Amino acid sequence: MRYLVTGGAGFIGSHLCDRLLADGHEVLCADNYFTGSRQNIRHLLGHPDFEAMRHDVTFPLYVEVDRIFNLACPASPVHYQNDPVQTTKTSVHGAINVLGLAKRVGARVFQASTSEVYGDPLVHPQTEDYWGNVNPIGLRACYDEGKRCAETLFFDYRRQHRLEIKVARIFNTYGPRMHPNDGRVVSNFIVQALNNQPITIYGDGSQTRSFCYVDDMIEAFVRLMDTPAEVTGPINLGNPGEYTIREIAEIIVEETGSSSELVFQPLPADDPKCRKPDIAQAEDVLDWHPAVTLREGLARTIAYFETLLSNHGG
Ligand SMILES: NC(=O)c1ccc[n+]([C@@H]2O[C@H](COP(=O)([O-])OP(=O)(O)OC[C@H]3O[C@@H](n4cnc5c(N)ncnc54)[C@H](O)[C@@H]3O)[C@@H](O)[C@H]2O)c1
Repeated sequence: MRYLVTGGAGFIGSHLCDRLLADGHEVLCADNYFTGSRQNIRHLLGHPDFEAMRHDVTFPLYVEVDRIFNLACPASPVHYQNDPVQTTKTSVHGAINVLGLAKRVGARVFQASTSEVYGDPLVHPQTEDYWGNVNPIGLRACYDEGKRCAETLFFDYRRQHRLEIKVARIFNTYGPRMHPNDGRVVSNFIVQALNNQPITIYGDGSQTRSFCYVDDMIEAFVRLMDTPAEVTGPINLGNPGEYTIREIAEIIVEETGSSSELVFQPLPADDPKCRKPDIAQAEDVLDWHPAVTLREGLARTIAYFETLLSNHGG
């Protein structure tokens, strides 16, 4: 099959390209390289079934494909808050453009939504029927509301134009090829630990997060895309293992053998206090459960960052 992966040069997107090619498909990667990099897909450039194109999803794209994975969007607060108007455009205009393309060519289309649609949740853990608690005018709104509006568009295209849609609500995902300077917990802590710098914890570190290793996430993507047409989601994808931010820092210090100390700084606005997916639906519908333990996944991610930092002279 011919796949389009928007955001295919990003962290998750590049792993998805790897997987689709390994499964024998043709892959067209469309990316504007805002947060992604050619380095993430360099190993694929000679592959006969792979094509990379520079394209911004806020503009229409006319290509012939059978299936679309729409991942284009900066995912970390430092990046999506850098140009919040562009972030909303990427989510909303991007969704309109990929949905328009899907309609024209009759393609099935997958949306990388996010746990951030739940905002600062009042229900814990979050099930798919929870409508969320989002500040519509806060600093995170460009991302949260953009992704919420994208979901609306997916479901309206489904109702109005009978499109085959798959909406995944992705919870924190980590692994090799994460951006080293994106301020996300895992990459931040690993880079600080490897450099023996103090590890910055926002707040007292008691806020919880769940972390899913990227290979598990890709497996869920592929399974969801292959479900029968009536399965639309939204469906939570993540690892329900819950850790405090402080625990994560301590595991990373241990696994890297670092001499870093933990330092505490004020919590940013609208930072969620807890985040844990209820994945009962994914387990049932996709027959899927994350397989990689946090320690195992962190060890692989640390190995990646060690190589990356040594190539860049520490
Ligand atoms: N990583 C996570 O924990 C997580 C959690 C929830 C949702 N998601 C979603 O998954 C998707 C992939 O996230 P990621 O972690 O790989 O982030 P990433 O920043 O590594 O990847 C996003 C990719 O989209 C590209 N992009 C951004 N704006 C674009 C535009 N206007 N046109 C074309 N390309 C554009 C970037 O250059 C990058 O390659 C995103 O949609 C994100 O919102 C990720």
